[in-house]
Amino acid sequence: MKRLLAAISLLFALLPSARAISLADGRECISLAGQWNYIVDPMDTGIYKYQMQLQKPQKRYFADRHFYQDKTKLIEYDFDKAPTLTVPGDWNSQSERLYLYEGTIWYRRVVDFHKIPGRRWFLYFGAVNYQCMVGLNNNILGTHKGGFTPFWFEVTDVLQEGPNSLIVWVNNSRGASEVPTVNFDWWNYGGITRDVLLVSVPEVYIREWRMRFDGAEIEVSVKLDGGSDTVTLEIPELGIRKKACACKEGTAYFRMKASPELWSPDSPRLYDISINCGADKIKDRVGFRTIRTEGEKILLNGNPVFLKGVALHDETIGVNPGRCRSEEDVRALLEAAKDLGCNFLRLAHYPHSEQMVRLAEEMGFMLWEEIPCYWNIDWASEDTYKNAENQLLEMIGRDVNRAAVVVWSMANETPRTPERLAFLGKLIAKTRAVDPTRLVSAAIQKDKPDFYHPVIDDDLLGLTDLISFNQYIGWYDGKPADCDSVVWSIPRGKPVVISEFGGGALYGNHGSDAEMFTEEYLELLYRKNLSMLSKIPGLSGLCPWCLKDFRSPKRPLTGIQDDFNRKGLIDEQGRPKQAFFVVKAFYGQE
Ligand code: GCU
Repeated sequence: MKRLLAAISLLFALLPSARAISLADGRECISLAGQWNYIVDPMDTGIYKYQMQLQKPQKRYFADRHFYQDKTKLIEYDFDKAPTLTVPGDWNSQSERLYLYEGTIWYRRVVDFHKIPGRRWFLYFGAVNYQCMVGLNNNILGTHKGGFTPFWFEVTDVLQEGPNSLIVWVNNSRGASEVPTVNFDWWNYGGITRDVLLVSVPEVYIREWRMRFDGAEIEVSVKLDGGSDTVTLEIPELGIRKKACACKEGTAYFRMKASPELWSPDSPRLYDISINCGADKIKDRVGFRTIRTEGEKILLNGNPVFLKGVALHDETIGVNPGRCRSEEDVRALLEAAKDLGCNFLRLAHYPHSEQMVRLAEEMGFMLWEEIPCYWNIDWASEDTYKNAENQLLEMIGRDVNRAAVVVWSMANETPRTPERLAFLGKLIAKTRAVDPTRLVSAAIQKDKPDFYHPVIDDDLLGLTDLISFNQYIGWYDGKPADCDSVVWSIPRGKPVVISEFGGGALYGNHGSDAEMFTEEYLELLYRKNLSMLSKIPGLSGLCPWCLKDFRSPKRPLTGIQDDFNRKGLIDEQGRPKQAFFVVKAFYGQE
């Protein structure tokens, strides 16, 4: 396996960090959602012949016998007769035999295609967890590593008229030098978990565009690919219709004064925007807002704002949860957060879907997005850093025009070592270079030395805009009543956001408030924590951990956890626990 990963990582090095083609670019897209045949391949027989150590990777399964059948040859697999998985979707929640599966699965989809002269075609993946190799008509298009961000390949010259064989090698094995590493508290959902699209553009097309708003002026830059041309920008409701030539390096710049209605959670105002260039046109909906800190305050559109937040995983509500696959899945989570009284969401611990980000923007949630530098990452590895940086750039590349995103976060509960500080320091510098318009943070863990006098003094806080930390007094540390005696030592001068706090309870499990995992215990824990935390000077935000009970292989307690982390304010079926109403009342007062 190591040699395979080495071979793949070599391929990775050749790939530019792809800028995703946004779902809502308003382009013609052919969705490849649906039933894909799959073959489970725990020993990568599709790559290696019988003596792995003697063979170089053969990629035999890319030679789809559906198209290249030669009865005189021994071929021991047949996608046509193989079972199917729904794409998008993780495999774990689709089949009992794949519930805990970690390894390789080969996906195959036959794509009927009809060429259109003068068009270019891209094969777009919203996300594949954790790494993949994509083959089309027995040609390897490339590879991607990182389970939560989009990527694409140009397939103009590979697609053929009529049926095409699209085969994807997917492997969700964990690895010590991967991002995340081998140990994390969520389910390792593998597969083609988000949309797969064939996107069509003209020869000269809009490769990417970037909008900034500083409160008085709108700036838009538009990068073309395939040549130069005149670009037209329109925001009709603001009376904006301008042309600029993308003549120098294929980039057009626009800058204009504007006084739009500002986007905020109370008024999530969005404007239609269109960008035309020759035969290419993209449409989107954008919001205008400013975000910055001033001392210990977070200013949204120049006014202090308190982040009434909650943290959540990308996982559906239901008795058999899996990765969110549709707008309906996402809407169910967001409606629960709205009912809780939230104006802010921590999308933990990895980039959620574009549907989540866009719908949250429409519904009026500010967002904290993060990459999965979680716990003990291989801080000394250059390859691990490149992987983390690529996931960061793909996340920012996808969501940089989303007004709802106000925080880019680098990491969660990472050990205080010089290597970790250097690694995250580079990521923070890269973030500020690519997008200086948003706040940068990281969820650190409180230090342990003195229980009743916790100290927040991580060097990382000198590099971030927020003081964000996770604390579990009343659950992992002491009992709820201990909150009354805790005196926090927190640096002053920056806004404080509690990025995690809470505890577990099984919905419907009632008993003494001294008994862990009862709803009464959790309700008391929240009452005590909210009372303690609201006294912290400079407190500007709270993120209870977390919105919904979620699957984790680290939570086996039979009859209580049953493979679920029970720290949700609602259970996996969406039923609110007593603690939900404690937080709702607190947010109602804010
Ligand atoms: C940690 C971690 C979470 C985890 C939580 C818990 O703080 O950040 O990912 O789920 O604690 O223990 O439930």
